[in-house]
Amino acid sequence: MRLVRRALLILLAALLAAVLGFLYYKTQGVDFARQVRVNEHLRNLKAIDAQWNESILRSRTELLAVDAGGALPRDPVARELSGLAEEARAMNHPVLVAGVASLATLYDRKLDLMTDYWRRATAFRNALRELLAALPPAQLQVREAAAQPGARVPEYLRTDLDQLAALAIEFSSISDDALAEQITAVEARLLAGATWLPPGAREPVMLVSTRLATMRQTKPGRDTLYQQLSFFPTAPRTDTLGASFAQSFQVEVDERELYRVYLIAYSAALLIFLGYVGVQLFRSYRVINDVNAKLKRANETLEHKVSARTRELSDALKHLKESETMLVQSEKMSSLGQMVAGVAHEINTPLAYVKSSLETITTQLPSISSIVHETEVLLAMLQQGQATEAEVTDQFARVAEMAEALREHEAVDTMEKLVKDGLYGIDQIADLVANLKDFSRLDRNKVARFDLREGLESTLQIARNLVKHKDVRKVFGEIPLVSCSPSQINQVFLNLVTNAAQATPENGGIIRITTRHASPAEVTVDVEDNGHGIPPDVVPKIFDPFFTTKDVGKGTGLGLSIAYKIVQQHGGRIDVKSVVGKGTRFTVTLPVEPAAPA
Ligand SMILES: Nc1ncnc2c1ncn2[C@@H]1O[C@H](COP(=O)(O)OP(=O)(O)O)[C@@H](O)[C@H]1O
Ligand SMILES: [Mg+2]
Repeated sequence: MRLVRRALLILLAALLAAVLGFLYYKTQGVDFARQVRVNEHLRNLKAIDAQWNESILRSRTELLAVDAGGALPRDPVARELSGLAEEARAMNHPVLVAGVASLATLYDRKLDLMTDYWRRATAFRNALRELLAALPPAQLQVREAAAQPGARVPEYLRTDLDQLAALAIEFSSISDDALAEQITAVEARLLAGATWLPPGAREPVMLVSTRLATMRQTKPGRDTLYQQLSFFPTAPRTDTLGASFAQSFQVEVDERELYRVYLIAYSAALLIFLGYVGVQLFRSYRVINDVNAKLKRANETLEHKVSARTRELSDALKHLKESETMLVQSEKMSSLGQMVAGVAHEINTPLAYVKSSLETITTQLPSISSIVHETEVLLAMLQQGQATEAEVTDQFARVAEMAEALREHEAVDTMEKLVKDGLYGIDQIADLVANLKDFSRLDRNKVARFDLREGLESTLQIARNLVKHKDVRKVFGEIPLVSCSPSQINQVFLNLVTNAAQATPENGGIIRITTRHASPAEVTVDVEDNGHGIPPDVVPKIFDPFFTTKDVGKGTGLGLSIAYKIVQQHGGRIDVKSVVGKGTRFTVTLPVEPAAPA
């Protein structure tokens, strides 16, 4: 959704920019320099045309000018036209292109006409010149002939010749039918008049007539061309083209102005829009800023709260650890209590018969001490030799009687037996105390290389009261010494053995303890019983602290959880397998060398 919105926004921005670009492009279309160049070309063309017209006009007024016109150069016109065509093409201006093409044809045609005209004008001029050159000799001849006596030279011949120069020049510059007829008449009169002259004078007059005829014949062609050229539409057509170009240019300029207005309006709208967006952005920026500030404040409060909560939690954790230690301690005290009860019971039995032996011995002691006394009296009598024989015999008989009585009662043998019994009892007590010391190992928590079998033995000794009616089967396989904390491991064993004893019936309970060197790095101890077993739904809970199925005072529910923790700290594990009604097997697996010190 956000992706689509972003794409749409980008599209909109691109569209706005494209419209702006289009409007800008539209305002850039007109090239004034080009217009100036086009106008210049047109102006130049017109100037050339005007030059041409002027030269044609001059050809009429300056009739005898030397080399009027001559070969016409096409280059300047061609240059202007090609320049114009180039601009038209560059502007891609169809009207101008077509106009320039037709203008070029027009100018070409005018040039052709002019060439023709110049040819004819030159011929006419030559005829005029020759005529004017031929006039003076003719006039001379006529005057001389007329001066001859008896000459019959018509008068009109002289007047004709005298007026002919003016007439010819008039005829050259004015197209007039009457004038042409007059020329034809003069021509005829000259031919006719020449016959009146003497043969030698005829020639020049006839020459004048011939020249006049030539002039008359060449003039119409020249005049027609002149007429054509006079009305040749190069100038108006050039003007028209210029005007239409100017018009189309104006249209373009107007269009550009229109687009400029559009551009300004669009830019203004865009600016307003951008301003609006900016204001919106600024607003949202302010909102974001506010929210940020609030968040920051909330964060600070939160941090405070978190640190307070962390403190509380760490306090709670400390408390928890303390209570855990206390619990562990209490479990230890509890098992210690059980153990002490067992041990006290164990000590009580030997202690009882040591006591009774000593009591028995105490009852025998007076008779022995009186024998000793009577024997001492007898010995003193014999030593001093003052007593009578009868007194000695009497004393001897008393001692013998007492000794006989002692022998009869087997008092010494009994005492010997009692002392032996007492010593045996004391040995038993000493044994127990030694085991107790072994079991609890005063060097608590210290890691040592320990024979687990030894630990199992002392555990069984400690728990003797619990297991004395059970069939305890020790299947001790050969195992290496294990690096561990012996007192902790003994605590594990004691708990397992205690649980096994408590789970088995009073009679017929079997507890099998097996040690195995399971793998080169591990040793396992199985404590197996044929007790009531653990239901499968209970098995997952037995390692939980305080989970117990036993009566209050009998179980704390901490034994297995502590055992689990101890074994885990040693890098080992406890597994359990149990079938309800058949029995339970706990397997403790310990590494021979724990990875980290326990
Ligand atoms: N060998 C066993 N046979 C049957 N149940 C056992 C055995 N060992 C432990 N349990 C069960 O596991 C529970 C938890 O044992 P433990 O953590 O040692 O606590 P406690 O012995 O104090 O009850 C016992 O209450 C008992 O239900
Ligand atoms: Mg227990």
